[in-house]
Amino acid sequence: MEMTTQPFRSVLYIPGSNQRALEKARGLAADAILFDLEDAVAPEAKAEARETLARALADGGYGRRTKVLRINALTTPWGNDDVRVLRGAGADAILLPKVNSPTDVDALADLLPSEMPVWVMMETPASIFEARAIAAHGRVTGLVAGTNDLAKDLGCRARPDRLPLMGALQTIVLAARAARGVVAIDGVYNRFRDEEGLRAECAQGRDLGFEGKTLIHPAQIDIANAAFAPAPEEIELARRHIAAFEESQAAGQGVAVVDGQIVENLHVVAARRILARADAIAGMEAQGR
Ligand code: COA
Ligand code: MG
Repeated sequence: MEMTTQPFRSVLYIPGSNQRALEKARGLAADAILFDLEDAVAPEAKAEARETLARALADGGYGRRTKVLRINALTTPWGNDDVRVLRGAGADAILLPKVNSPTDVDALADLLPSEMPVWVMMETPASIFEARAIAAHGRVTGLVAGTNDLAKDLGCRARPDRLPLMGALQTIVLAARAARGVVAIDGVYNRFRDEEGLRAECAQGRDLGFEGKTLIHPAQIDIANAAFAPAPEEIELARRHIAAFEESQAAGQGVAVVDGQIVENLHVVAARRILARADAIAGMEAQGR
């Protein structure tokens, strides 16, 4: 399976209207930033936020953090102007909200330079049914779970175990993996002062297979970075799996045994992926963002 080597553990939303937060983000340990023009910006502030974001991106200073720009849907009064003003502003990807089908992605792709990747908010019930086709769209390189919108549309309860959203969350990860090379980022945790709750939800998202979590507050960054990084024990075990398997192969055997568990070629693939992710994270930490 292809996996991107860029880390996406912590993906921080910043309202495009919040000059102070835009400034602050240049020094935060987020792997990626979602510059938002959609729901975090009030209708009367949209036009100014557009200009503020254009300036922030032009000024730069966001280093190796992936810069994703969330525009308004093209069916709103703002979407087309967002694209017109910001398509050449230096973002790494454009994030399209309220997508229902690949046709919505086509509409945006038609307005963008051909090399500009598209990320998609997976937040309508229709998008979950169309997840496979959306992720397989040639321009799409990232899926972001929009769990608040999804819960609203489903009329489901907000539960700590997210059971009512589980089918949708798994579908998003399945679609990203079926498409290969598409990043899947989990939804936000609304109680931004509740560290315990965030830690649990990050662990759940990681166990489901998401690469990282969208965040709303800087206080959430360290927890997400820790949760979505391979743990030292995982790295150690991955190294032992690889070593044991190579030893077995040299001895003409197809499988190895480590700690009483079978290790096959597929485990070695998973182990190499863990080491690649750990390397990417170490590189980001060592060289600075
Ligand atoms: N990105 C960068 N910096 C942020 C930030 C963010 N998302 N949220 C807060 N900050 C900064 C504040 O500017 C403040 O900086 P300062 O102390 O240097 O002045 C510091 O972090 C502490 O902020 P705090 O006072 O604890 O939070 P707040 O009450 O100002 O804001 C929220 C709380 C939730 C309104 C704010 O975090 C926010 O707007 N988050 C993003 C919401 C969003 O984008 N939603 C759309 C997607 S769901
Ligand atoms: Mg939304």
